[in-house]
Amino acid sequence: MKESKLKKEASRIIGWRSPSNIALVKYWGKHGDQLPNNPSISFTLSNAYTETIVQYDPLEYTQDKISTNFYFDGKPNEAFQLRIDSFINKHLAEFDFLRKVQLSIESRNSFPHSSGIASSASSMSALVLCLLSLEQKIKGETKNFLQRASRLSRLASGSASRSVFPHVALWGNCSIEGSSNDYAIPLPSVDSVFKSFHDDILIVSAEEKAVSSSAGHQLMVDNPYGNTRYERANRHIIETEAHLKNGNIDALGEIIENEALELHALMMCSRPSYILMEPNTLAIIAAIRKYRKQNKQPIYFTLDAGPNVHVLYPDEIKNEAETFVNESLLPLCIDNKIIRDKVGEGPQMITEFSI
Ligand code: PMV
Repeated sequence: MKESKLKKEASRIIGWRSPSNIALVKYWGKHGDQLPNNPSISFTLSNAYTETIVQYDPLEYTQDKISTNFYFDGKPNEAFQLRIDSFINKHLAEFDFLRKVQLSIESRNSFPHSSGIASSASSMSALVLCLLSLEQKIKGETKNFLQRASRLSRLASGSASRSVFPHVALWGNCSIEGSSNDYAIPLPSVDSVFKSFHDDILIVSAEEKAVSSSAGHQLMVDNPYGNTRYERANRHIIETEAHLKNGNIDALGEIIENEALELHALMMCSRPSYILMEPNTLAIIAAIRKYRKQNKQPIYFTLDAGPNVHVLYPDEIKNEAETFVNESLLPLCIDNKIIRDKVGEGPQMITEFSI
């Protein structure tokens, strides 16, 4: 483990570990200040996470503009610092308690930087949780902590709004009680089978994304299938919620795969058009479908906006699934890279780095 860049002033340190999440029903297309064009549902992950520790030093004066010191993986990182500073300054009315402190922030990801895994959900939610804990310390503000964390995370990165809750989170207005475009909520009734679901993330390519998610959301504005997509996503939300409640893995699996391919189809027919899958993405999908049919096992896939494949299955078939993944899918990954993950319990406060 690398040594931390922060001074060891335990009384002025706040830290959170926050996980990544994988959407089952995808958020693709937004409006206003990071408001989703359709609701989305995700599994909160466990092993793919960011750890962020913030050190705050009181200032003698009041700042009009916040400028943080930021270290990523033990090194100063200007690009990340600018992104964080611009987020904080844009929403300074929410973070007014930061005007009188100097922040030094250090962040680490449990997954390798070059693994092709997007880190904005885990990193932005970890940062926001630290800032709100600091607010709590300074102002004693404790009301709706997680709801506020979700709303502010959303303003930094839409999908980050879902990372602050355990197991399964829903973000976006729909007929489900309590749902909102402003923040995510934990889905109340989820069958226990999904709380220990596996997600083996197969790294097909570790290259930078061909299209950033902000550019991708923007492409939905002129997408010819936009309205059809939003209608379908809304229907998938209702069905997904029911299957999560009833523990119906196969019915859920069918929707999950549909959602993944629909996301990619939308990008293929955008202008400009993007094909984000690689030949091995398709080879893995074909192998999963063949294995499922031949062995009658509930093993499904989803994709994010890139070529890597998330293989989803219940804990009860762990041994068979692992053998299948190791023997048939791992050789299709770049350098045999895989992140073995599971549905998790959500963010946790930390006092020191574990990675
Ligand atoms: O949170 P953003 O702006 O990076 O968008 C994420 C979009 C997808 O990952 C493709 C889907 C989702 O709902 O997470």
